[in-house]
Amino acid sequence: MDVSPPLGLLAELTHRCPLHCPYCSNPVELTARDAELSTSDWLSVLSQARELGVLQVHMSGGEPLLRPDLPELVAHASGLGCYVNLVTSGLGLTASRLDDLVERGLAHVQLSAQSATRERADLLAGAKAHDRKLAAAALVKAFGLPLSLNVVLHRRNHDQLAGIIELAERMGADRLELANTQYYGWALRNRDALMPTPAQLAAAEPVVRAAIARLRGTMEIVYVVADYHEPYPKPCMYGWGARQLTVAPDGTVLPCPAASAISTLSLSSVRDTPLAEIWYDSSSFNAYRGEEWMSEPCRTCDRRELDFGGCRCQAFLLTGDAAATDPVCSRSPGRGLVDLILSRPPVADLVMRR
Ligand code: SF4
Ligand code: FES
Repeated sequence: MDVSPPLGLLAELTHRCPLHCPYCSNPVELTARDAELSTSDWLSVLSQARELGVLQVHMSGGEPLLRPDLPELVAHASGLGCYVNLVTSGLGLTASRLDDLVERGLAHVQLSAQSATRERADLLAGAKAHDRKLAAAALVKAFGLPLSLNVVLHRRNHDQLAGIIELAERMGADRLELANTQYYGWALRNRDALMPTPAQLAAAEPVVRAAIARLRGTMEIVYVVADYHEPYPKPCMYGWGARQLTVAPDGTVLPCPAASAISTLSLSSVRDTPLAEIWYDSSSFNAYRGEEWMSEPCRTCDRRELDFGGCRCQAFLLTGDAAATDPVCSRSPGRGLVDLILSRPPVADLVMRR
């Protein structure tokens, strides 16, 4: 099949992070500091990515500000002609650091927040973080950069949804992503505590709809649905190995950020294989491209070009087979697994990210 070049690179510079969010989608086993790629490794990854066609670089983590070489990496990516986005908790973002990053070509900041009020947000972050995020947002606006606010939604903050939208307005965010929790990595172990109730999701719908209408032209709002509650799966990654690649802190190259969970996948590393070879020829990137890998009911389904059979990571995590139809799908023989999960009583305790 014809494979197009990737548009975006998610550069996970480090797994180290000052926060302890229970919905973290990074793997349960994190990369240690001494196993992270070096500065020269990352410079090479960025050059190779640009050569491959990448135009957008998302510098992420963990917390990318914990890498002292971040300014050098931003300058390199920007010098190559890439649009550079910093995905950050905001902790550690000072005026002088932001000034330097902007000088070196940083184009956009995506800030995370945990909830609308300080008390709830700090509880969910496992750290005194909320006020520092407000300060970080103010800095980003003062430097004239576009600001996206990302808030992961779940049972413990859905009731603050209207307040979260107000928070984004107060921050002057240009974009607000309200993303119901996706159950990968650490988040999976908290699934029964984080799963929103049908009543919460029903209450959210008109609030989001009204905010989208009211703020049109001022702030773009993106609402990521709680897919377990939907009849059809999300078009995950817009298809496997189709638009974006992820380089993990240790150099492993992933077709999707959560793909290290698929233990049947043989993953390649930039430490020993050129990025272009991994994108075009590796078994991991080719495993679920196109439609050849699909079995029934996806193979002949009229929705397969809309959702690509759903999410491969979710299929693996729920059924043990990454080529199975995403069990979220009401046409999947595995839908009973999802319904069973939804029927469980809620769990009170959250296990904070360690
Ligand atoms: Fe999508 Fe497959 Fe379900 Fe059809 S059967 S809606 S292609 S997941
Ligand atoms: Fe990996 Fe959906 S999260 S394919």
